[in-house]
Amino acid sequence: MQITVYFTPNHLDELELRDKIVVAIDVLRASTTITYAMLAGAREIIPVASVEQAMKIVGNLHSTSTLLCGERGGKRIEGFTLGNSPFEYTEEAVNGKALILTTTNGAVALTKAKYARQCFVSSFVNLTATIEALSAIEGVANEHLIILCSGREEEFSLEDATCAGMLINRLQARFGSSSYTESRSSFHFSDSARAALSIYREYGNDIYRTLRESDHGRHLVELGFEADIKAASEIDSAPLVPVLEQTAIKKKLIFSESLRVQLEERGLLKDGTKTVRKTKVA
Ligand code: MLT
Repeated sequence: MQITVYFTPNHLDELELRDKIVVAIDVLRASTTITYAMLAGAREIIPVASVEQAMKIVGNLHSTSTLLCGERGGKRIEGFTLGNSPFEYTEEAVNGKALILTTTNGAVALTKAKYARQCFVSSFVNLTATIEALSAIEGVANEHLIILCSGREEEFSLEDATCAGMLINRLQARFGSSSYTESRSSFHFSDSARAALSIYREYGNDIYRTLRESDHGRHLVELGFEADIKAASEIDSAPLVPVLEQTAIKKKLIFSESLRVQLEERGLLKDGTKTVRKTKVA
């Protein structure tokens, strides 16, 4: 498996991700929030880069079943129904709804992945499910995986890089080799992937602390969103994988039978949402 990490989506042309397998990460908070929104039954999530685009799209859609969501500077955008805290995305608020989501970095990264062959939305809350989703792709060991971190304000962010490194570490464990230096390894890591692994080894022991002490974590604490940081640090707390297909997230992959049963009982597996158990991803 070849792995490349982009630490920000800046200067990345969307055509560079064409036909690639992409894992998009925005730990604080877009990926975490999107995963919670899909868990709460959102019918679809359309990530867009600007507030203007979000307003334009919502104007063309059915207003009662469509919500404008997102943040600027971490705060809910004026006139929007929801901000970017995972706690706002309750079943009551989003079940069966289409969400137009614009966030400063995470939504921008997702718009870059519209030509990807597969794009999974990932963070600490669905890390194992992400590994399962990747493992289910036939021949994945021979693929080139792109891990696309959202970064912060067009710059590097420690929380996304740590998550990327943890993902690489887990993939290594899953697919066997522990070496990335010699040909006996089935992995070929770019310099950026090796850097992400080192960052994970340095900062991956206490995820909550790493998130809380990161630039964006401190900003969120100042805004009163400390609970969001705690939620974002809880590994595998929302074990499903939102899938971006071109411009929208409509599908979620679930690999846990108990979660599937739970969601089914609560009526959260209806609408256009396609849910799969352990299976191949086309
Ligand atoms: C983003 O996309 O920049 C973030 O998710 C910001 C935030 O914490 O809301």
